[in-house]
This record gives sequence, C-alpha cells and structure tokens, in this order.
Amino acid sequence: MNTCFIKINEHFVVMSESCVLIGDDCLRALSYLQPASVHMIFADPPYFLSNGGISCKSGKIVRVDKGEWDKEQDREKIDEFNYRWIQACKRVLKEDGTIWITGTFHNIYSVGQALHQLGFKILNSIVWQKTDPPPNMSKRMFTHSHEYIIWAKKSPQSRHYFNYAAMVKENNGKQMTDVWTIPHVPSHEKTFGNHPTQKPLQLLNRIIIASTRQNDIILDPFCGSGTTGVSALCLNRRFIGIEQEPLFIQLTKRRIQSVYGTV
Ligand SMILES: C[S@@+](CC[C@H](N)C(=O)[O-])C[C@H]1O[C@@H](n2cnc3c(N)ncnc32)[C@H](O)[C@@H]1O
Repeated sequence: MNTCFIKINEHFVVMSESCVLIGDDCLRALSYLQPASVHMIFADPPYFLSNGGISCKSGKIVRVDKGEWDKEQDREKIDEFNYRWIQACKRVLKEDGTIWITGTFHNIYSVGQALHQLGFKILNSIVWQKTDPPPNMSKRMFTHSHEYIIWAKKSPQSRHYFNYAAMVKENNGKQMTDVWTIPHVPSHEKTFGNHPTQKPLQLLNRIIIASTRQNDIILDPFCGSGTTGVSALCLNRRFIGIEQEPLFIQLTKRRIQSVYGTV
C-alpha cells in the first residue's frame, strides 16, 4: 500500500506498504481515508452485551464483562452508533465492494436496519455455529451457540466479487451453505496476548478468500487483536486496521509482526 494513499498523522502506525494501523476512534479515523478506496470491510463491532449477567468460562462462573466499550446501552444510542459507523464505512467502500458485520441478537437487528436505511443490499446472513459453546448457567433458556455475520454489497446495482469456486472446493465439491460450523479461537492463536472477543483465523480466512482478490485492500474498523490483519496479510491482501484501545493496537502489532516480520 502506497503510504500517500492516506493522510498520515501521529495516530497512524505504518507497518509496511501493505499494512496501516490507526489507533483512534473509528469514526474519526474513517474520516481520514479517501472515499471509495477499500475493496472489503470486515467489522466485528461492540455487541453491547456486557450487562453484568453470568456466563461460564473454563468451568468457572464469570460475569459477562468484555470491557467498557461493550457495556449495554439504550436502544436509541445503539441504533445511532451503528448508523454512524456504517455510514462512515460506506463512504470509503469502493462501488463494487462488500461489508461483513458480525453480531448476536443484541446488535444485529440494529445493524440490519442501518444497512437498509443506508441503501446496502444484503447478500447473506451467515450463521456461525460454534462447536464448543459455554453452557447456559441460568437453565431458563437454550444455550447460545451461534453468531450472525451479515454480508452486504454497497448498493443493489453494484457488481460484487464472490469466489464461488474456492468455496465449493473448501466444501468438498458441494455448494457452501450459509451455516458455518467453526470452533472458537484455538489457544495457539492467543500466544501474543488476550482479547475478550477474538475471532478465529479460520473464520476470517474463509471470509477473505470468498470476497476478495489478491492485493485487495481490506479494512477493519474495530480490529481488536488484529485477526483480520493477520489473515489478510497471510493471504496476500493489504490491510487497514482501526482500534481505539492502545493495548489492543500493540497486540495487533505483535500478531502481525509474528507472521509478517518486522518492517
Ligand atoms: C468485538 S472486538 C473485535 C475483535 C476482533 N475481531 C478480533 O478478532 O480480535 C471490538 C473492538 O472494537 C474496539 N472499539 C470499540 N469501539 C470502538 C470505536 N468507536 N473505534 C475504534 N475501536 C473501537 C474495542 O476496543 C474492541 O477491541
């Protein structure tokens, strides 16, 4: 990635010509980027599910608390937040680009509404079925065992890219469905530090292979521990990551350097 592609200021960590990390709030950072400049966006935003409830982790009962950024909010605030960052993403997405957004019932209906209001066209609503969900401690409802991933194109008219052949190959010669059974993050992907909502590389690899070509620019506005960046760079794509927490930017940097080398 040519560094004159974006305005550089003190918030940017330029790791190589293929990777730029921005330690800032995503709304501000997205405003620095040029319009219609990225091929694909993967966003794993706050789900706003940290509400003091209980869950189970490694056999122990724990409070659901992913961090300040994930605290439960009133519906209007969540809707406004989702509308604003998705609108900012739309500006930087190329006309034929696509966006993937993850969620659970806590945020995904709000995300879907914002996508409709902003003129996106939803291509799929993927169900990521987890093979190893924690038990439901209340015993008053079913065990939560999936997340949604909405895949949408910028407008009904745009001509998005889908690597159909690669997905059929990955699925042993059969069309791949919109239900993906993928385990949670294996421990060896956590070697460089902990992030409470890290996504597995297997999930990101599939998404990136399905919807981008080599050398494409992939943006993640909530990059967390940097899973999207690691996957993008390993698959010879270029990456722009935005993350507001300095500790997580450092974690992203360590993970990317481990696969990509110091530059
Ligand atoms: C769900 S996590 C992403 C995890 C990531 N997909 C991974 O695999 O590690 C969301 C991240 O967004 C960050 N975040 C929350 N609000 C933000 C904002 N307004 N701008 C930038 N980052 C934000 C949080 O600090 C958190 O690390």
